[in-house]
Amino acid sequence: IPVDPFDYVVFGGTGDLAERKLLPALYHRQMAGQLTDPTRIIGASRSEMSREEYRSFAQAALKEHLKQDEYHDDEVETFLKRLFYIAVDARSEKGWQELKDLLDEGKDRVRAFYLAVGPSLFGDISEKIRSNGLVTDETRIVVEKPIGRDLDSARKLNETIGEVFDEDQIFRIDHYLGKETVQNLMALRFANALYEPLWNSAHIDHVQITVAESVGLEGRAGYYDKAGALRDMVQNHLVQLLCLVAMEPPASMDAEAVRDEKLKVLRSLKPINQDNADALTVRGQYKAGASAGGAVKGYLQELEGGVSDTETFVAIKAEINNWRWSGVPFYLRTGKRMSERISEIVVAFKPIPHSIFGTNAGRITANKLVMRLQPDEAVKQWIMIKDPGPGGMRLKHVSLDMSFADRFEERNPDAYERLLLDVIRCNQTLFMRRDEVEAAWQWIDPILTAWKETGQTVQPYTAGTWGPSQAIALIERDGRTWHESD
Ligand code: BG6
Repeated sequence: IPVDPFDYVVFGGTGDLAERKLLPALYHRQMAGQLTDPTRIIGASRSEMSREEYRSFAQAALKEHLKQDEYHDDEVETFLKRLFYIAVDARSEKGWQELKDLLDEGKDRVRAFYLAVGPSLFGDISEKIRSNGLVTDETRIVVEKPIGRDLDSARKLNETIGEVFDEDQIFRIDHYLGKETVQNLMALRFANALYEPLWNSAHIDHVQITVAESVGLEGRAGYYDKAGALRDMVQNHLVQLLCLVAMEPPASMDAEAVRDEKLKVLRSLKPINQDNADALTVRGQYKAGASAGGAVKGYLQELEGGVSDTETFVAIKAEINNWRWSGVPFYLRTGKRMSERISEIVVAFKPIPHSIFGTNAGRITANKLVMRLQPDEAVKQWIMIKDPGPGGMRLKHVSLDMSFADRFEERNPDAYERLLLDVIRCNQTLFMRRDEVEAAWQWIDPILTAWKETGQTVQPYTAGTWGPSQAIALIERDGRTWHESD
């Protein structure tokens, strides 16, 4: 469905995120016929650059990041015509009048400011947007993580932005919420009668959430070494996935209804602190090894001889203290430079209470529902069946397999495509509300403190493996194993 014309102002318009994600995502939406004239995309950053130069930058970005058959000269030409550029300084008056003049040409349009910049600039930019009179009734602001590095800094950032914008104008992006399978999780849970009656501690043994990456630092050492995997991935992406698995059915898909339910989950997370962090968490850091088909450096070598205690891997046994989930562990793990890029949510059901089959029938494995987010999207329901043939009752564990690529012809849109336009449509369902972000930090902060206070060290793991052996022990101690993807 086409969207009314809008103006997207991208601060950090010449940065990595704009180049890799935002410009290609907007291009794809144009290709899908959703951008109507005179929609404009306005790059803003400190660099001096002409409009023509910005268009060349964007063209190169599209060449680099689109597949060959997605790059069409005419379409790109139309897209480049939408682009403007203004050199703006967040900390002085430079460029703001020019930006205002440009935006005034589309006063009645929806106007979105995307802050693809470091959080230290959120305050300055919001303030300049306000003092230059750029906020209209139809204005929204989009902020990227990291929203703070602990509860205190997150609160300050939220307050700073909140001084200029109302909560219903603020879109805090967690791009995992824009991924197809994540939305599918809601479809699966709430558009089928099959799962919901079983979705509780009476029938579910445990849940696993794995987000494994094969990449290393990708040139982001400056940011990453100060953040680490817990802040970079768990506080946002993994915790958001956990919320969607665990939340009660919301009254509707309305943003407040969904976010209210997620918040309740966050507030029910069992605290991890100095008394139990050692038993419930594992920190890891990769050493040199082989990944993605070649030899790769260890984390410390990537830091160029640096010394660092930053974790590039984390595993957590989380628990939710409420009626539905009491006693059901949620095992979370994420890491860089792991065996392969795989993100999966595994819902492991309880074993059958009693077997009527003799020992010759083989082992009966408990049912599992596996939702794969990456690299390919799939839903697999693992069940027991009779092995076909005349050999008597022999049982077999097989999966009912729904691979999206096999089943659907449509291309799978990138998470940003959905989210960028949700901002324009003013749909906040897939964005994090202020209290959610703060509640997530409220759970994460004591873990960080515990690690510091108890001196919990990072366990080395070889690049290209599934993380330190302690992470395997974390789940095996409970008589369970990490799901092996097939
Ligand atoms: C980002 C993290 O939020 O997510 C990165 O900062 C990580 O460190 C990335 O690589 C993973 O996203 P995706 O969509 O590639 O799984």
